[in-house]
Amino acid sequence: MAQTPEIIPQPVSLKTNTGYFKINANTKVVYGNHDINAGKIAKLLANLLHAPTGYKTPTRAQSFKSPPPSASVYLSTLANEPALGNEGYTLKVTPKQIVIKANQPKGLFYGIQTLLQLLPPSVEGKQKTILNWQVPAVDITDYPRFGWRGLMLDVSRHFQTKEMVKDYIDQLAKYKFNTFHWHLTDDNGWRIQINGMPKLTDIGAWRVPREGPFAFVTHADKEPGEKETYGGYYTQEEIREVVEYAKQRFVTVLPEIDVPAHSLALIASYPNLSCTGLQYNVDPGTAFALKKSNVLCVGNDSTYIVLDKIFTQVADLFPGEYIHMGGDEALKAFWEKCPKCQAVMAREKLKDTHELQSYFVKRIEKMLHAKGRKMIGWDEILEGGLAPDATVMSWRGMKGGTEAAKMGHKVIMTPYQYCYLDLYQGSQFIEPHAYGLVTLRNCYEFEPVPDSVDARYILGGQGNLWAESVPNQRHAEYMTWPRGMALAEVFWSPKIAKRDFDGFAKRVEAHFKRFDAADVKYATSIYDPLISIVPEITGTDTTLKIKLETQLAGLTTFYSFDTTNPDKYYPQYKGTPLTVPKGATQLRVINYRDNKPIGKQLAVKLKDLDKRL
Ligand code: ACM
Ligand code: ZN
Repeated sequence: MAQTPEIIPQPVSLKTNTGYFKINANTKVVYGNHDINAGKIAKLLANLLHAPTGYKTPTRAQSFKSPPPSASVYLSTLANEPALGNEGYTLKVTPKQIVIKANQPKGLFYGIQTLLQLLPPSVEGKQKTILNWQVPAVDITDYPRFGWRGLMLDVSRHFQTKEMVKDYIDQLAKYKFNTFHWHLTDDNGWRIQINGMPKLTDIGAWRVPREGPFAFVTHADKEPGEKETYGGYYTQEEIREVVEYAKQRFVTVLPEIDVPAHSLALIASYPNLSCTGLQYNVDPGTAFALKKSNVLCVGNDSTYIVLDKIFTQVADLFPGEYIHMGGDEALKAFWEKCPKCQAVMAREKLKDTHELQSYFVKRIEKMLHAKGRKMIGWDEILEGGLAPDATVMSWRGMKGGTEAAKMGHKVIMTPYQYCYLDLYQGSQFIEPHAYGLVTLRNCYEFEPVPDSVDARYILGGQGNLWAESVPNQRHAEYMTWPRGMALAEVFWSPKIAKRDFDGFAKRVEAHFKRFDAADVKYATSIYDPLISIVPEITGTDTTLKIKLETQLAGLTTFYSFDTTNPDKYYPQYKGTPLTVPKGATQLRVINYRDNKPIGKQLAVKLKDLDKRL
């Protein structure tokens, strides 16, 4: 029996057969002569195979009535299989040929991604490798569960170059994500050139440089006279280039202009747009709350004039169906005290500032409708009344999304407990700074459709990489993978009663080799021990015990309290929480698999553990 190939996301149906198809110097990519779309994808496949295999893999059209020839990869977008929808495909590999069929080029593209996963990991390399390029015989039918499969990248808190963004899109397309949500504006930098508003990129795109996590005391605000040297932005030409690059990978780019809050970069550029009218600097990541207003004045006509100008250009640059207007975390305190905001509340008979927020969001929705676009906002846009046709991105849990779906609105589920890729993914004692834990298992166990909701209203889901603690490309990759693979499978593969995390984790480990070949960073946090404290209550006494956990099955954990480095001859953790021995100051922990150490050793000062309570 052939080994089951390690495909992520898991296809709808996968049958393994015996034998292999060998890709060699004679292999051609063939398509029907009326099938121009298949011809384009054929060239794409030939290009993808060329670098790692060194083979030319010529493409060739033949009469579309002729059967798929031998010694070839045959591509067709004329499957005429309604069950496959717009994104599905069939992939049949026999020792004689490979045939991929779809209704649409998009489906064929996904068939190609699966084919690449059937090839050895070196297919992800940029250098020619000499090896047996064989594809196991399989019979696959595949199509997605959800039409919205997104990843969000925040480029405001830390800037990422156009090249990085293209790499990121390349990576997510391989796992059949079809949406790249580009968080382009926030308090810490405005990243999109707007014609006629040069201050947005002359001033708004730059802040003073600060290292380390945001909102820490060491993360001081601008000093008098200090130069704003950190930042960057995308010209409109660069944005068009990224949108086109994404399109070639069947990825839609969703732009987000986050208003009315998270708008300090806009306000720093045009101070008249806030309720205070004060000149603030673009924030370098301080905890500013009430010290500065990052909220637009929603009672000022200028705000709407400026936003109309911005959204007109955004609509021109991004051809997708939707535009995201943010809408999250608006502090209402400045509106309460602002004469212009108060005047609008009186005029419109709004009973509180939630309704004022709703008034603003509804005006933005009309503005976007006038440009032929639908509006998406974070779930705060429910407060004070949802705009008539708004699509809700539910992040503070499932509640907002559930409520919106019950009102007949479309929803994208991205609850932070499962989908926030900025949270750490292993032990907080060794992971880079973040404010909570989302493990690979958490991502994998995400179910986007609540029982009480009609599934038709849930467009799908999304992973979000906020970048307060993501200063560079390598770390963005580290935070995205492997958890992005778990979300890819949740959004693509059929719903199953009980997810097999251990089976999934085995496939993930196989994919690590592909990331190595592609030179893309990923986290190996699943191998590291997790440490937590559990109280044990006996009578009136509470003692603190230490609990150790592993993310993967099949690991054993060894520990020490004597400041030496544990190995497999040390005490093994057997599941009963540990009592701290008298005099101990430190706990050291290491995981083993198959008698070999795996993952990182943790060394934790016991007083740091105490502090966590
Ligand atoms: C969000 O995380 N503020 C949408
Ligand atoms: Zn105001």
